[in-house]
Amino acid sequence: MKIAIAGTGYVGLVTGVCLSDIGHVVTCVDIDEKKVDLMKKGVSPIYEPGLDELMRKNIEAERLFFTTNSREAYKNADVIYIAVGTPEQEDGSANLSFVEAVVHDISHSIERDTIVVTKSTVPVGTNDWIKGLLYKELPENLNVAIVSNPEFLREGSAIYDAFNGDRIVIGTDCEEAASVVEEINKPYGIPIIKTDIRSAEMIKYASNAFLATKISFINEIANICEKVNANIEDVAVGIGTDNRIGTQFLKAGIGYGGSCFPKDTKALVQIAGNVEHNFELLNSVIEVNNKQQAMLVQKAKQHLGTLSGKRISILGLAFKPNTDDIREAASLVIAKELVNEGASVIAYDPIAIENTKKELGNLIEYTTSVDLAIKDCDATFIVTEWEEIQQLPLEKYKELMKQPILFDGRNCYDIKEAKENSISYISIGREEVVCKDITCLQKN
Ligand code: UGA
Repeated sequence: MKIAIAGTGYVGLVTGVCLSDIGHVVTCVDIDEKKVDLMKKGVSPIYEPGLDELMRKNIEAERLFFTTNSREAYKNADVIYIAVGTPEQEDGSANLSFVEAVVHDISHSIERDTIVVTKSTVPVGTNDWIKGLLYKELPENLNVAIVSNPEFLREGSAIYDAFNGDRIVIGTDCEEAASVVEEINKPYGIPIIKTDIRSAEMIKYASNAFLATKISFINEIANICEKVNANIEDVAVGIGTDNRIGTQFLKAGIGYGGSCFPKDTKALVQIAGNVEHNFELLNSVIEVNNKQQAMLVQKAKQHLGTLSGKRISILGLAFKPNTDDIREAASLVIAKELVNEGASVIAYDPIAIENTKKELGNLIEYTTSVDLAIKDCDATFIVTEWEEIQQLPLEKYKELMKQPILFDGRNCYDIKEAKENSISYISIGREEVVCKDITCLQKN
C-alpha cells in the first residue's frame, strides 16, 4: 500500500514508522523543513524509546520517506492519514485549523480516488465536516472515502503499543474503505472493531475520559485512605484484582498530565455541552485532578510550616517517565507554587530539562544529576517515577540532604524501608513516616 501521513508529531511519526515496518511504503509530510531534514537522516525529533532505530531500518529498506512536498506525497497515495495536532482552545474545545489546512491541501493535490483516514483526535462529527470540505474543493471526477481510525498509543511506549495494542478501531460508512484499512493493519495481528464514523470518534474521547476517571477515582480513594489510616497500594490491588475493574490505571499519585487526558477530558465536556448535556462526572474528574497536582505542596506546608527560604529539589519534570514531554505536567504546577511560597527550587530530569526551561525559564534552577539536585536541600519532591529515581537508595537522601524529608508523589518507596532508614517520608494514600530526629518538622 502507498500511504501518506500528514503531520509528524507523536501520532503521525509513530504511525508512519510502524506502518512502514509492517511493509507499506510510507511518506511522512511535515511543513517544518528542519524537522524533515533531521528525519530523513533517521533522527526522530521527539524522544520515544526505539523510534530512531525503527526509522533508520525502514529508511534503509526504502519503505519510509519524509518530505515537505505534500502535493507529491498525496497525489498518488492509496491512503492519506491525517495526524496533525488538535490543540486545546481557551474554552476547552479542539482547534481544528491544522486539520482544515491538511484537508484543503489534500483536495488540491490528489489525482485519483483516495481514502482519507483521520488519526488526529477530533470532536464527534468532524469526519463528516472533513468530507464536506473535501467535496467542496475536489475535482468532480474524484471520490474520497473517510475513515476515523483513532489512536491509542501512550507516549514512552508508543512503539510497543503500536504492535501490541488491544484493538484497532475503524469507523466508516464505506465498506470498501473499511476493508482497505483493515488490510493495511492486518500484519499487526490486533483485533479490529468496525463502527460507524461518529462512534469511532466517540470511542477515542470516551476511552481517555474513562482512564482519567479511573485515575481521579483512585486518587480520591488515596486521599480518604490517608484520613482513615488505610494503604492505597493494598486497596488498589484489592479492587483491581476484580477482573471487572482491572489493575491498570489505578496508580495513585499527583494526577494525570500530558498532551492527551487534560485536553481530551475538557474537549469531551465541551462536546457534551454543545448538545446541552452537562457532563457532571467528567467535570469532577478534572477538578479532582487539578487539586491532586497541587497536593504535594499542601503536604509540605503542613509538615514544614512555611516554605519561605527553604531549598527544595524536584526529581522528575516530565509528565511521566520515558518522555521529555512536560505538557500539563504536575511538575510545572508544583514548581510555580513552591516559588510562590518563597522556596528556592532546583530540579533534575534525565531528558525533560530543555523543554522545562522553555516553560519556566530561570524561575527555578536546573541540574544534571539526582545527587546534585538533593544536595543540601531542606526537602525533596519526587514528581516523575523515572527508573533511576525509583532505584535511588534512601540512604542517599540521608547522606546528601540537609535533613532527609521526602514528599513522594509517585509512591516509589516502601513505607517499611522508609521507617528503617530514619527519614521523613510523606507519600500518597499511605501512612506518613515522620522521623522524630528531624527538628524542622511541625508534626513531631
Ligand atoms: C494516553 C492514553 O493512555 C493512550 O491510550 C492515548 O492514545 C493517549 O493518551 C492519547 O490520547 O494520545 P499518554 O498521555 O501518553 O497516553 O500517557 P498515559 O500513560 O496514559 O499517562 C497519562 C497520565 O496519567 C500520566 O501523567 C501518568 O503519570 C498518569 N497516570 C497513569 C496515573 O497517575 N496513574 C495511573 O495509574 C496511570
